Amino acid sequence: MLAAISLSMILALPLLVNAKATVNNQIASLESSNSPLLRYPTQFTQNIVPKAIHSHNDCVASVEADVWLVNGTLFIGHEEGALTPARTFTSLYVEPLLNILNGQNPKDSFTVGQTTPNGVFDTSGGTPLQLLVDVKTDGAQTLPFILKDLQPLREAGLLTTFANEVLTQSAVTVVGTGNSPLDLVKELSPRDYFFDAPLTQLTDPSLNTTWDPTLSPLASTDYEVAVGWSGIGNISEAQLANITKFVGDAHERGIAARFWDTPGWPINARNSVWTVLMNNGADWLNADDLEAASEF
Ligand SMILES: *[C@@H]1O[C@H](CO)[C@@H](O)[C@H](O)[C@H]1NC(C)=O
Ligand SMILES: *[C@@H]1O[C@H](CO)[C@@H](O)[C@H](O)[C@H]1NC(C)=O
Ligand SMILES: *[C@@H]1O[C@H](CO)[C@@H](O)[C@H](O)[C@H]1NC(C)=O
Ligand SMILES: *[C@@H]1O[C@H](CO)[C@@H](O)[C@H](O)[C@H]1NC(C)=O
Repeated sequence: MLAAISLSMILALPLLVNAKATVNNQIASLESSNSPLLRYPTQFTQNIVPKAIHSHNDCVASVEADVWLVNGTLFIGHEEGALTPARTFTSLYVEPLLNILNGQNPKDSFTVGQTTPNGVFDTSGGTPLQLLVDVKTDGAQTLPFILKDLQPLREAGLLTTFANEVLTQSAVTVVGTGNSPLDLVKELSPRDYFFDAPLTQLTDPSLNTTWDPTLSPLASTDYEVAVGWSGIGNISEAQLANITKFVGDAHERGIAARFWDTPGWPINARNSVWTVLMNNGADWLNADDLEAASEF
């Protein structure tokens, strides 16, 4: 059993590292091409922090943007005091993604018949990048600005979209978290901004919501609240039962399960927690340090 888990992790993690290396290579070649499109190429890796990144079927990447609406502009930063005029949602996320994806989707004789764009990563062609937008300011006020700023990606056909009862996957799947307003996200039609569902409440009728991937491709929870096992000693049956239940609730609905705020220290405790979560079907783990995740 343990051997099987380790093998799947060993198989998965080099892909993760390859994905990152591929993006770096692409940025290098894009930069050396001197294309006028490339005003922000290196910022793609400087400012977008990959979050890990384990899935049973694919190895995919997720990046998270902490978004603040100030004076009609969306700024990026972990806290309001850290915002600077140059660090906007457009300059740090939308434009770099557009540049990279334009580079990945050259309009030439090889691609004229292609109906879906390539993703960010060469290694996993059609695999979308998940862009988590963590809304820090009022959800109802902020959402229209996010939708407006996403327009260049939308126009280029690069956003996963739910329209006319059909979910069409594209290169970037945008999932709102934090203060994202559920009621307004439900009303979006077409919808290319999705909602990070509450993983521990998918069966809670008081939320008056039918959770499915057309609204929520992802459901998340704070690991400390939902499980809480430190990774030291044995996990309790109740803690393990919670993991199994929450992952099962998500998977029954075709939704991926994510645990954030997992313990980071000590390393062996962190690894024990990751192992138990992966072993029990968690699709996404948060790891701020991609290198650490790749060495796991
Ligand atoms: C927002 O606008 C107000 C009034 O014009 C100004 O004082 C403030 O510095 C602006 N804040 C930012 C972050 O641009
Ligand atoms: C439940 O959701 C439906 C559809 O979104 C809405 O029409 C209804 O008013 C909601 N009911 C409650 C009690 O919130
Ligand atoms: C199981 O999850 C519920 C809901 O999040 C939580 O209230 C409870 O404390 C959890 N139980 C354990 C043992 O962590
Ligand atoms: C932890 O689990 C192992 C394996 O099931 C068992 O041998 C050990 O006695 C348990 N330790 C405690 C403190 O319950």
